[in-house]
Amino acid sequence: MATPVPSRVHALVTGATGGIGRGICFALVEQARRDGQAIHVSAAGSQPGERLERLLDELRAAGASATGLGGDITDPAQCAALVARAQADGGDLTALVCNAGASGPGQLADLPLAQWDLTFNLNTRSAWLLAQAAREQLARTRGSITAIASMSGLHPHPGYGAYSAAKAALIMLCRQLAQEWATDGIRVNTVCPGMTRTPLTEAVYQDAETLARREALVPLGRIGRPEDVGAAVAYLSSASAAYVTGQNLVVDGGVADHMLAMIPGRPGKPARS
Ligand SMILES: NC(=O)c1ccc[n+]([C@@H]2O[C@H](COP(=O)([O-])OP(=O)(O)OC[C@H]3O[C@@H](n4cnc5c(N)ncnc54)[C@H](OP(=O)(O)O)[C@@H]3O)[C@@H](O)[C@H]2O)c1
Repeated sequence: MATPVPSRVHALVTGATGGIGRGICFALVEQARRDGQAIHVSAAGSQPGERLERLLDELRAAGASATGLGGDITDPAQCAALVARAQADGGDLTALVCNAGASGPGQLADLPLAQWDLTFNLNTRSAWLLAQAAREQLARTRGSITAIASMSGLHPHPGYGAYSAAKAALIMLCRQLAQEWATDGIRVNTVCPGMTRTPLTEAVYQDAETLARREALVPLGRIGRPEDVGAAVAYLSSASAAYVTGQNLVVDGGVADHMLAMIPGRPGKPARS
């Protein structure tokens, strides 16, 4: 017997004004359309403003109802306030998408403590606090949490300060939440994007040579797009993933598994039985 599809979706998406966040919002709207559901998107940026207003207009034009929320999620009080305001705007959440995050350059040898704390508070702690605040609502709707980690959370990324450690911790946080909250009917998963072209990374791709060298590293032959990540989140938030929890979905065009293919030279002798 197929899992029943709820008649309405209410998704709170953090970092909605960024590249991947936008992709997630529109993928959720498209998924709801395919599933015949009404959808309300609570789109959160770090602050209210023109970019958020433009996004809301576009989401409404795509058939969703949408409200905008601003708040710095490194502040625990703002995390609780975002979830409360989302509920006031659109009723109980059915999906929480913890997408807001950022990396920054830095060497662990002399990384300032404040930079370490900021990276963990933004990429990791905020997901825990948002999840805590949303738990009762998600238990009532048997909803889901999806957090956006990174391939940097699976493989060390030298020169990016605490980013790899924070994203690795986010993946484990979500696996633990999945175990602790399964009895509440709440599913928790992560998505690990690879190289994705967004405002966060755009400066790198402005250089044609760097773009070509990066593309050459990806088995599927291109840099990722926000809609690639959006599609993964839409799936994990949908009834199609009703039996999927504690999992990490890598959306990277195959790049993270490509290392062994890059080792020069071939074995001299074929294997023998
Ligand atoms: N792009 C990539 O190649 C890539 C690869 C792997 C993983 N990721 C992850 O994917 C997620 C989205 O990245 P992106 O490339 O879409 O980045 P982006 O375009 O820079 O967007 C970042 C979003 O996070 C919000 N944000 C930043 N700091 C915040 C704070 N303190 N409080 C509340 N919101 C805050 C921003 O809001 P404002 O615009 O209002 O400041 C923006 O909406 C991040 O978690 C990132 O680590 C990205």
